[in-house]
Amino acid sequence: MRHLWDKGGVSPDERVERFLAGEDVHWDRELFLHDIRASRAHVAGLARIALLSADEAAALDASLGALADEFTAGTFVLDDRFEDGHSAIELYLTERLGDAGRKVHTGRSRNDQVLVALRLHAKETLDHLHALSLASADAFLDRAERDAMTPMPGYTHLQRAVPSSVGLWMAAFAEAFLDDAENARATRTLLDACPLGTAAGYGVNLPLDRVGVARDLGFSRVLVNPMYAQNSRGKLDLALLSSLSQAALDLRRFAWDLSLFSTAEFGFVTLPERFTTGSSIMPNKRNPDVVELLRTVYAVVAGAQVEVSSALSLPSGYHRDLQATKGPTLRASRAALDALALVPELVRSLELSPARMRAAITSDLYATDRAVDLARQGVPFRDAYRSVAEDLQGGASTPEQSLAARVSPGATGDLGLSELRSRASALR
Ligand code: ARG
Repeated sequence: MRHLWDKGGVSPDERVERFLAGEDVHWDRELFLHDIRASRAHVAGLARIALLSADEAAALDASLGALADEFTAGTFVLDDRFEDGHSAIELYLTERLGDAGRKVHTGRSRNDQVLVALRLHAKETLDHLHALSLASADAFLDRAERDAMTPMPGYTHLQRAVPSSVGLWMAAFAEAFLDDAENARATRTLLDACPLGTAAGYGVNLPLDRVGVARDLGFSRVLVNPMYAQNSRGKLDLALLSSLSQAALDLRRFAWDLSLFSTAEFGFVTLPERFTTGSSIMPNKRNPDVVELLRTVYAVVAGAQVEVSSALSLPSGYHRDLQATKGPTLRASRAALDALALVPELVRSLELSPARMRAAITSDLYATDRAVDLARQGVPFRDAYRSVAEDLQGGASTPEQSLAARVSPGATGDLGLSELRSRASALR
């Protein structure tokens, strides 16, 4: 393996080399296009302060573009021939361009190079999280509208409690994913700062055009302090993971609802066949494996949060420990986005069994309505509560009447879907 830092002399131990690289170069595949993009901006910045000639900059830019194309086409493979993605870029440029390639690392360190790639990745992931959360919210809103008044029992403690509706259930997740979209946007704003040009964490003795480079890369500001830039490694990952975890929590709860309500015991929903699998031994089975794996995404994200925060017990500055934050972050990002991408279609294609849900609304479920009705007539609520408790089956109502009577904003008689829709459009 050729290293950027080879100075001749000591030949490295193969086991030590493998240990140092770990899975890092493989994870760098996820960052490679970001790293190349940032390298192009760095080259342009060096040309602006005359550290590269116009010809050198043009040649470097063209080669970086070619490398991106080859990597995308699969003709350039980033594997353990290289110590990391950063080395692969410089070695590629040096092989093709000689001296110009050897100049590309002027004024930067792999420490700010990896940081800028991570921030670009985080912003892109948050953009996807934002879009997928909104798409999920839209699907839940459509479903809430379609089944607004379809009665189903409402549960507390997993015990039947009051009449409720599919509309209320679906709108709950619509609002949840709107929160997740908003959270993704806020985190994106927080992370939208460019660390490139901070080098190893102490700046360099060059008048780098940090502001111009940040602008070229689409950042809204520079991360000012070079030491803080390094200290933000891992912290930025935790901010991203926190946003992902919020959506993963909602996903887990929805998946739980589906796995429960699709059992024969409930029989409220049927999962679309393409979201289920068969059993290798029991010919009668259709299993909700997709929903169950959606439920595990939170575990992946939470595991990553523990791994990253545990690695961060460090004094100021760069430490190779920080490399250990890369894998968990990238793995959790991929898992969460892949899972969320399935949600809109799953929501759209759920089959409901309105008869089963209606049959589960037994007459005792109107008890709260009845107590509140008495209170409305002036009976002190505690007395009304006691008198209804004495005869739980008395007083006839229908699910429709019960749903329609709950008229305060957000409740079954007024789901507030237009408010949720306007919040969704404001977030777009
Ligand atoms: N793979 C390294 C990481 O992820 C790249 C930075 C290496 N910097 C260093 N000073 N050894 O942190």
